[in-house]
Amino acid sequence: MNETKLDQAVAKRRTFAIISHPDAGKTTITEQLLLFGGVVREAGTVKARKSGNYAKSDWMEIEKKRGISVTSSVMQFDYQGKRINILDTPGHEDFSEDTYRTLMAVDSAVMVIDSAKGIEPQTKKLFKICKMRGIPIFTFMNKLDRDGREPLDLVNELEEVLGIDAYPMNWPIGMGKGLRGLYDRYNNRVVLYRKDDQGNQYLPLDKEGKLSTEYSLTEDSAYQDAQDDIDLLSEAGNSFDEAKIASGELTPVFFGSALANFGVKTFLDTYLKYAPAPAAHVDQAEEKIVPDDAQFSGFIFKIQANMNPNHRDRIAFVRICSGEFDRGMDVTLHRTGKVIRLSNSTQFMADARHTVEKAVAGDIVGLYDTGNFQIGDTIYSGKHDIQFAKLPQFTPELFVHVAAKNVMKQKSFHKGIQQLVQEGAVQLYTNYNTGDYILGAVGQLQFEVFQFRMLNEYHSEVVMEPMGKKIARWIDPEQLDEKMSSSRNLLVKDRMDNPLFLFENEFAERWFKSKYPEIKLTAKL
Ligand code: G4P
Repeated sequence: MNETKLDQAVAKRRTFAIISHPDAGKTTITEQLLLFGGVVREAGTVKARKSGNYAKSDWMEIEKKRGISVTSSVMQFDYQGKRINILDTPGHEDFSEDTYRTLMAVDSAVMVIDSAKGIEPQTKKLFKICKMRGIPIFTFMNKLDRDGREPLDLVNELEEVLGIDAYPMNWPIGMGKGLRGLYDRYNNRVVLYRKDDQGNQYLPLDKEGKLSTEYSLTEDSAYQDAQDDIDLLSEAGNSFDEAKIASGELTPVFFGSALANFGVKTFLDTYLKYAPAPAAHVDQAEEKIVPDDAQFSGFIFKIQANMNPNHRDRIAFVRICSGEFDRGMDVTLHRTGKVIRLSNSTQFMADARHTVEKAVAGDIVGLYDTGNFQIGDTIYSGKHDIQFAKLPQFTPELFVHVAAKNVMKQKSFHKGIQQLVQEGAVQLYTNYNTGDYILGAVGQLQFEVFQFRMLNEYHSEVVMEPMGKKIARWIDPEQLDEKMSSSRNLLVKDRMDNPLFLFENEFAERWFKSKYPEIKLTAKL
């Protein structure tokens, strides 16, 4: 691809994630988007996959059992001249680490909120990460076909709880059973929920933003209430500001119903106008790597093993930051300096995988991995060494002792543990003295998935003995004296052999600090 072509191809990419609290409607809206993109033909495909009826792999069993989505995948489709990459994120909070890393690989985010519930804890957490990255955030207030909270209330909540300015792009006319339509401020029209007697779906608004009295809707109190709200918003609300959208300071808000497919297309069309194309990434040397740079570069934000149990595979997901990916190309892995040929690559549509021949900055490519890659790795072509900023790491809070139930089956136990740990599913520690294995995680469910996968994918039955909550603090090896360890501050090693203490509680940590004031403890490495 020559420079202009690369430039044009990159400008077409829109890479985003949908964030929400479980049950707000992320799966339903994703599905509608895929329908518009022509990727799925029937509503229910993604949904079925989520409930486990579709992909009948063992791996999906746990999702079926728990009714949650624990995998995150990538879906790509073309729509209105744009190439869209949607990165799915697990909604359950125990997998937030996985979601956080995925958010490092997107250029914008769509926040789906249940209009009856408003902002829920998980939305708030994920929003913070997006805000920290300064990426544009678009809001979809979902489930308008059900009675929900006052729209003004919902918008105020965005500003007060999340601290982001909001600009409603449209406004509900009625709600629940009384839903009449949307007052589309942005396109200066009314969109009817059900077509009127003349078969109209859209009614034009005049220059003042009013509907002609020839339409009976003007007599409806829901329309009059919407008008009052709109007047209020126009006088006292924020103005539409593209620069503020781009910097993540203002979120455009769309109301609608994903289930009824109402307001979703308008949302997508408008979203695509303002969502950014891939931006430059800054590497650790503070150098800006622009997406249309001829040199290929990218980072690995996710590793997933055994997505398909029939083919024991391990896939490293790479976000391309610059240049073009060409199957068979040689890249350098920054961490080891090793040159690796990328000959086995895959891309994902909702339900199928394809071999990728070419991809450009903004795209996500899955690389079949034989153990070369780790989460956070940078790869690049050419001579210029690049290392992107480290991905955020979250200190585990829950710990368990883990061992193979059958001592004769140590081999599969070790193999499984090594692979799942590399995937970032859980953190592995070893007791400094005995070498016993300890696992750390953010949430209990991660342990359950680990146990389930060890059995299903590695035929290794594991026994786990809970250790409860602990506070992990790393210590400089130079300062370490093994005698500092006690039953209240267990000395362990992390996967890279760095020593750390697992403190029983804050009290134990404070006690340690007062006993050894010269020792520096750190929460993260
Ligand atoms: P999630 O991925 O964010 O967890 O949410 P998901 O799309 O699975 O939606 C959660 C529930 O909310 C589903 O109902 C779904 O049908 C419903 N839902 C999503 N969007 C809307 C909407 O616009 N209006 C209404 N009324 N409901 C909506 P469920 O009963 O849990 O599942 P199912 O029985 O429909 O499969």
